[in-house]
Amino acid sequence: MAEIHQPVLLEESMFWLAIQPTDTYVDMTVGAGGHALNILQRLTDPGRLIGVDHDPEILALAAEKLASQKQQFSLHQDAFSNIESIFKKCNVSKINGALFDLGVSSYQLDKSTRGFSFQQEGPLDMRMNPQNPVTAAEIVNTYSVEDLANLIWTYGEESHSRKIAQAIVEARKKKAIKSTLELATLIAQLSPNAHFFIHPATKTFQALRIAVNQELDELQAGLDHILPYLAPEARLVVISFHSLEDRIVKHFMKKHEAELEILTPKPILPGKAEQRLNPRSRSAKLRCAKRK
Ligand SMILES: C[S@@+](CC[C@H](N)C(=O)[O-])C[C@H]1O[C@@H](n2cnc3c(N)ncnc32)[C@H](O)[C@@H]1O
Repeated sequence: MAEIHQPVLLEESMFWLAIQPTDTYVDMTVGAGGHALNILQRLTDPGRLIGVDHDPEILALAAEKLASQKQQFSLHQDAFSNIESIFKKCNVSKINGALFDLGVSSYQLDKSTRGFSFQQEGPLDMRMNPQNPVTAAEIVNTYSVEDLANLIWTYGEESHSRKIAQAIVEARKKKAIKSTLELATLIAQLSPNAHFFIHPATKTFQALRIAVNQELDELQAGLDHILPYLAPEARLVVISFHSLEDRIVKHFMKKHEAELEILTPKPILPGKAEQRLNPRSRSAKLRCAKRK
């Protein structure tokens, strides 16, 4: 099966997880199962992997990919913030390592019907979990100029946030904005001289995606809830893809320095070869801490 998502910083994440074959690990972002498969391949009885992802579509693909693995694993369609109930269900009181590989997978990005991409026509959806009631279209078509501008500024760090928010509100007076390309074109028209390496809608799409999936609150909740489950020496490995995520991870590790030893004072970045082979890895940053 062709890779539908190229796992980022794969060797590095295995190294920093320092997997002990008979221990218990949790992959909080199973996605297409790339990291999960590599963790499982390093385990022997009674080693165990608990896999989490709130996207049922991608979790089904991961289940197929991992089906032939002999080591014990279970997959759970749930959010970071519910990790405690997953551990309770699995009868787990301590884990020896946790991996968060944040953001969306290439599968989600490339599937136009999911509405994540400003390069393909699709519904303005962006929900990783389709049971989530709020879509990007709902935000775009109902928020006030003020709220839209704040959202695009806070989650996209977009300096033209107000101009974009005003244009959205003007455009939707004529007709609701329902598709990815409608929104991307509207934003592109506001910045005719935009730098051609970065699409002018990049930051607005990032902001909407973060808001729809409550990504930053989820990350904070996931980190907070997993901390008490880390056994002594357990590794916490987090791969982030933008500064808002990385700031939360860095701050979390610093705040808990009494319990956590930071093993990566500077984040680990993908090498040139990986960046060339997988351009989506370019913004990745890996941080690791060990439970004291
Ligand atoms: C970058 S992908 C992970 C790719 C995976 N490591 C692999 O090798 O295929 C991130 C995954 O995390 C999931 N995800 C993001 N936020 C989540 C959350 N709050 N709760 C559960 N899953 C989440 C997404 O649905 C996505 O499948």
